[in-house]
Amino acid sequence: MGKNIIAHDYQISIKDRRQSNGHNSFLLWFTGLSGSGKSTIANVVEQKLHQKGIKTYTLDGDNIRKGINNDLTFSPEDRTENIRRIAEVANLMVNAGLVTLAAFVSPYKKDRENIRTIVKDVNFVEVYINTSVEECERRDVKGLYKKARLGEIKNMTGISAPYEVPENPDIEIKTEYESVEAAAQRIIDFITPKLKLYNE
Ligand code: ADX
Repeated sequence: MGKNIIAHDYQISIKDRRQSNGHNSFLLWFTGLSGSGKSTIANVVEQKLHQKGIKTYTLDGDNIRKGINNDLTFSPEDRTENIRRIAEVANLMVNAGLVTLAAFVSPYKKDRENIRTIVKDVNFVEVYINTSVEECERRDVKGLYKKARLGEIKNMTGISAPYEVPENPDIEIKTEYESVEAAAQRIIDFITPKLKLYNE
């Protein structure tokens, strides 16, 4: 924090907001290649949470890269800045009492570690959507892999830019072997104990 920026002592705390919502808040972070299924699975998880009355919000490329981060490219430096800003926004949302879902390629291990630091370890759940680049390229939902092969897109993750595989994710989903529904349910099962307030 800048040395002349002094935080105001607000009377309503994260604990108050969690209590008023009746559940805990944390960040569920989905990482994986473009087209791996991150947003699809996050969407089903969010629906399941919503049905239980849990307050949620999902951050993804559509609402972030088209808005607050529309000044950023896919260079390594800009990806790092992309993830840093998203982590800060997610941190505010967690403080606001929301179960926050975030679906971003986030290819660099150090950037994902930085998210953990920003939101605090206890509020961070890392979900690795493990779909092979061959399968992502076969699906090519957005036609980006084709463009990358033609050299029309530079720095395409998995083709001409790296993806650093998470070594110890909380949950790993292999979409080539597990359905969207089964994956979403497995995530719900994992996070259900985390939704509980400690002093209940
Ligand atoms: S990140 O690397 O900075 O985390 P982010 O998740 O915001 O990436 O955006 C990735 C999305 O942008 C992809 O799903 C894809 O639709 C699109 N995209 C466009 N260019 C690229 C590229 N060079 N590499 C990866 N994704 C790209």
